[in-house]
Parts: sequence; C-alpha cells; structure tokens
Amino acid sequence: MEAFIQEIPKAELHLHIEGTFEPKLMFNIAKRNGIKIPFASVEEIEAAYQFDCLQDFLDIYYQGAAVLIHEQDFYDLTFSYLTKCAEQNVRHTEIMFDPQTHTERGIPFSVVINGIHRACVDAEEKLGVSSLLIMSYLRHLSEEDAFKTLEQSLPFKKYITAVGLDSSEKGNPPSKFENVFKASVKEGYIPLAHAGEEGDADYVWEALNILNIKRIDHGNNSLQDEKLITEIVKKNIALTVCPLSNKALQVVPDLKEHPLKKMMELGMKVTVNSDDPAYFGGQVNQNYIEIQEALNLSKQDIYELAKNSFEYALISDDLKEKYVSELESYYLKNQ
Ligand code: ADE
Ligand code: ZN
Repeated sequence: MEAFIQEIPKAELHLHIEGTFEPKLMFNIAKRNGIKIPFASVEEIEAAYQFDCLQDFLDIYYQGAAVLIHEQDFYDLTFSYLTKCAEQNVRHTEIMFDPQTHTERGIPFSVVINGIHRACVDAEEKLGVSSLLIMSYLRHLSEEDAFKTLEQSLPFKKYITAVGLDSSEKGNPPSKFENVFKASVKEGYIPLAHAGEEGDADYVWEALNILNIKRIDHGNNSLQDEKLITEIVKKNIALTVCPLSNKALQVVPDLKEHPLKKMMELGMKVTVNSDDPAYFGGQVNQNYIEIQEALNLSKQDIYELAKNSFEYALISDDLKEKYVSELESYYLKNQ
C-alpha cells in the first residue's frame, strides 16, 4: 500500500508555502540574512512544534516566516517544496501564499511573488511539476488591509489564479471579507476559503453563500449540519482535507476519529493535502499513508482521492484529462 501511495500520480490543493519551511532551511536563510531566531538547533525547533490549537501554531508559523527577506529566500523555499512534490509523484500543486505576513514587515509584494513565481516556472521546466498560486488574505487583519493587498497584487495578476482566506478562524467569519472577495472576483480571481476547521458550520454556509467559494479548505465542521452536507454535495464543491494538520491542531483527537471516510460515504468530494508539512509531521504522501492506515482505506479509495485532486484542481480541462489518464493507466496496472 505504501508503494502504491508513493507512486500514484496526484495533485496537492491545500498547501501554504510558508508552512513548508523546514527547520534546516530556516537556519540557513536566517544565517545568511543575519537574523537571530530563538532556537539553538533544529532539534529545539522541532520540539517547539507541539500545538494545542490553530492559534498556537500560527504564532510560531508567523515567527518562522519572518526570516524570509529577499526574492531568493522565497525562491529557495518554493523550489525546495516543489522538489519534494517531484519526489512524491505530485504532478500538480496549488500553492497558497500569505502576502500580508511579509508586507506587514516591510517586504515588498513584488519580492514575495517574483521569488515564488520564478521557482514555479523553473520547477515546471526542470521537475515537470505544474503549479498555480492562491493569494490568501489573513482573516485576523481588517478587510481594508485585504483591499490593500488586492491592489498590490494587480500588476502581478497573470501569476495569480485564486484568492483564499486563512489564519485565525474563530471570530473572523467569512462575511467580514464580503466586499474584498467581490472585488477580487471582479479582477478575475477564483474565490476559495478556509472554513469549518475550528469555526462551525455557519462559517461554511457564509463562505458558500456570501463569498461564493468554489472549493472549501478543510470543511470538517460541515458535518455538524445535514442541510449543509446536502448543499455541498448538490453544488459539487470539493473539500481539501488535511489529516495530519487536523491531528496536530487537535481538530480531531486521533486519526482513527477523522471524518474523511464518512465524508466520502456521504458523497462529498474529498482530497488529501499536507497544509503545513514542515510543522505537522509529514508531506502529502505521509498524509495519505497515515489516513489510509487509520481508516483502513482501500486502493480504490486512494484512487478516488487522487482522482478528485485532479478533477477539482483549477486547471484547464485538457491538463485535467492528461493527468487523469495518467492516473487511470497507473491504477489499471497496480490495482
Ligand atoms: N495558515 C496556515 N495554515 C493554516 C491553517 N491550517 N488554518 C488557517 N490558517 C492557516
Ligand atoms: Zn490551510
């Protein structure tokens, strides 16, 4: 089963580039930028990655991201992640980045996006991994701040496919960002949002009805509301589920209690993703491996999850067809 998971072609649809920052790379970049970090070793960093909830994690995650200063830093971070994609047979990835985490510290938007974009172009050419970018607004900041970010993004519109909504969910409902999402859609960005990770089903309703999102990041708490489940299935909206993240942030007590299989049985379209792999104990394949084991998923389940990852990607029908046919021939041979 592990070999089957390792080799199966797949896409990753929920990934924060700042959450891929491995301690070793963080040390290297901190050193070359002359920045002190409050840890003496890689082991000390890893020991600090014990979280009680989302906010606990976010505090450490924003601190780590503060080491990124130059375009080359963003390039190295992104290329390192894309190298891992190639090693795991991730054929396509949709990368979230949080511009405000950097612009708030005085790093120009152009530095962030140019570094990330250049790595994506190089990875497509050298590693054969395709990618696109999702610009995520930080929901703990104001809508006005998000509008500033939208404005800054416009010269780079051709590099950005979608907008997302992340950071501290509780107390920051999707409705807070109604106007900036409307304006983002007018600019041609596809609307997505984290919803129902810690917030309850109402937040998912708002994300669907007010922000008009095309995919739900996490969505676990949708299961609180039967009408909502029916709505998600009817609208054919996929959920980007992140098992190891849910375990690390105590969204679920244990992977054996994870609702992924139940979601599939209810007819919801689910994908498996790593969210912030450097912080939560594994890349996307490790997420597949651990959730397969915990829920006793079959090869057919894994195939369905991988298929969803291409079907619900924000790519052209031609590219979807190419990846799905690659997946299908793999499955026929390895079933
Ligand atoms: N930013 C990075 N990871 C996140 C998560 N799991 N939820 C909300 N915001 C995030
Ligand atoms: Zn996330």
